[in-house]
Amino acid sequence: MHPLEQLRDDALRDIESARDEQALEATRVKYLGRSGSVSSWGEQMKTLGKEERPIVGKLLNETRNAVAAAIEQRAGKLRSQKETEALEKIDISLPGTPSERGSLHPLTQMLDRSIDIFRRMGFALADGPDIDDEWHCFDALNTPPEHPARNEQDTFYLPDGRLLRTHTSTVQIRAMQAAPPPMRVIAPGSCYRRDEVDATHSAQFHQIEGLYVDEKVSVADLKGTLEFFMREIFGPDTLVQFRPHFFPFTEPSLEVYVKSKALKGGEQWIEVAGCGMVHPAVFEAVNKARGDKAYDPEKWTGFAFGLGMDRLAMILFDIPDVRLFAQNDLRFLRQFA
Ligand code: PHE
Repeated sequence: MHPLEQLRDDALRDIESARDEQALEATRVKYLGRSGSVSSWGEQMKTLGKEERPIVGKLLNETRNAVAAAIEQRAGKLRSQKETEALEKIDISLPGTPSERGSLHPLTQMLDRSIDIFRRMGFALADGPDIDDEWHCFDALNTPPEHPARNEQDTFYLPDGRLLRTHTSTVQIRAMQAAPPPMRVIAPGSCYRRDEVDATHSAQFHQIEGLYVDEKVSVADLKGTLEFFMREIFGPDTLVQFRPHFFPFTEPSLEVYVKSKALKGGEQWIEVAGCGMVHPAVFEAVNKARGDKAYDPEKWTGFAFGLGMDRLAMILFDIPDVRLFAQNDLRFLRQFA
């Protein structure tokens, strides 16, 4: 074996056993560096005879090439080994950063369920502004100027005379102004009263107004509609009671009470709505505003109701204090997620 071949074999062995890039570089210098063993063979070439020179020259080239190629190969291997090790340090089994999952507010849930039930009975959605005028809130609803509900103690008035609506019944008027009968709408929304805030009273609360005007609409239709609604919400065993009451804009007027064993405090009648047959004076006020006789009280009759959504949600979800709805306490809200 020629010493160059021996040198090549030694180099290849060294290269193969280089454990990292530093060791490999040291090996490269040892063999191919300026004073490395392969390079010093180049120096020795000059001392060789004419015959020997080309043979050794070829061998030297082959050796240099073989060593260089082996170094490059080894370098590639070490590089990919390093990358693999780095990747292995990333623990892909670690759970990611969880994103917060929101949920619907209990009042929104209550509202969605209620709207759903009325839609199945053919009611369309109507809407009106939270800031309205006295006429829509009171006058058109047959509520005279001296009525206590119009008192500054009860209602939030704006400097320009407008007010925060005290009930959603304003939308009855707006819906009838906008379209002739037959009419079957519900109007969910906020209402405002100057109530002393406590566990059952809030200055802002929520109602669903209902209005159904057609030929021959009767109290039986009203009772059937609300009984069906209450049983859908509170369960089939729910008892529904209608008690005589007074509202200026309905005649007769009724209050709706529910009782259900399925509910906490199930032995108690709880008031959940006001309702009645639309007062002819309301139709007349609408006609006057419309400038026609579209809501002729001789031809059309109707019922209206106002459901207290906060009350319904408090009963259904067993919530003891109405103030919880507006406090944004996640400990409370998460229970309805
Ligand atoms: N607007 C009444 C209230 O807020 C409820 C009601 C609506 C009563 C429609 C009769 C008809 O108390």
